[in-house]
Amino acid sequence: MVDRWVMDHQRDSWRKQAKASGYRARSAFKLKQIQERHNLVVSGDRVLDVGCHPGGWAQVAVELVGSEGQVVGVDLLPCVPVEGAELLVGDITDPFAQKAVLESFDAPAIDVVVSDISPNITGKWDIDQAVSLMLVAEVYDFSLPILKKGGHFVTKIFQGVGVEEMIDLVKPHFQKVKRFSPMASRNSSSEVYLVCKHHMPKKGPDWKIRPAFEQALMERKGGPEPDVDIEPAKSTFSVRSRRTPPE
Ligand SMILES: C[S@@+](CC[C@H](N)C(=O)[O-])C[C@H]1O[C@@H](n2cnc3c(N)ncnc32)[C@H](O)[C@@H]1O
Repeated sequence: MVDRWVMDHQRDSWRKQAKASGYRARSAFKLKQIQERHNLVVSGDRVLDVGCHPGGWAQVAVELVGSEGQVVGVDLLPCVPVEGAELLVGDITDPFAQKAVLESFDAPAIDVVVSDISPNITGKWDIDQAVSLMLVAEVYDFSLPILKKGGHFVTKIFQGVGVEEMIDLVKPHFQKVKRFSPMASRNSSSEVYLVCKHHMPKKGPDWKIRPAFEQALMERKGGPEPDVDIEPAKSTFSVRSRRTPPE
């Protein structure tokens, strides 16, 4: 009860600060704190903001890249425009939206990807956490080929099953991969950010994260489900009809 009150109070406090500073969402402080600690974005960078609605991170990214930089965001939901950013409506896993994102940048290589993506919450924790990690895997698969050598990537993840596997798969692509919990997210217990610095582009057929992640999860569970129909077990239970006594 007390924990809940403290969490709500902290959230309110970030919300008030966001309002006072002209940010659309308290999440803006999460990116500011990630930036303070890890220094991902520099002036003149090209930044992709994945899951950008309502635009708090885009506001911060625009401040960081300055007038020489470029910020492109994408979200399922439309955003009120942010001056200095191009915010697209689309599903980042959809090739059509991916093409629109690529075409919006004025050069093919991106310096930094910031992803605060989170799927629609069903309220069933296991499902939400698993869906979120799959989505993150897809964001990596879209972003890695367009992220420049030495570029940086940060994404929200929810702690739980599969996180260690995800980190192991991502590590070969970056010089440094670290979990970071900004002060502004410490009230949502399981949310952390995976900060990946200094991209090392991989060549060859097996660089994709999502298929390898699915495979790793299957191995963790002890192998794939057999895809043949499962024979029903024979039951010793039988139903005997009861005779209706004559009237
Ligand atoms: C926590 S919000 C992002 C808040 C944002 N960083 C800000 O500061 O304003 C997560 C967003 O991810 C978006 N999202 C979820 N699935 C997506 C997908 N497949 N493609 C694009 N955006 C998605 C949701 O619509 C939601 O707006």
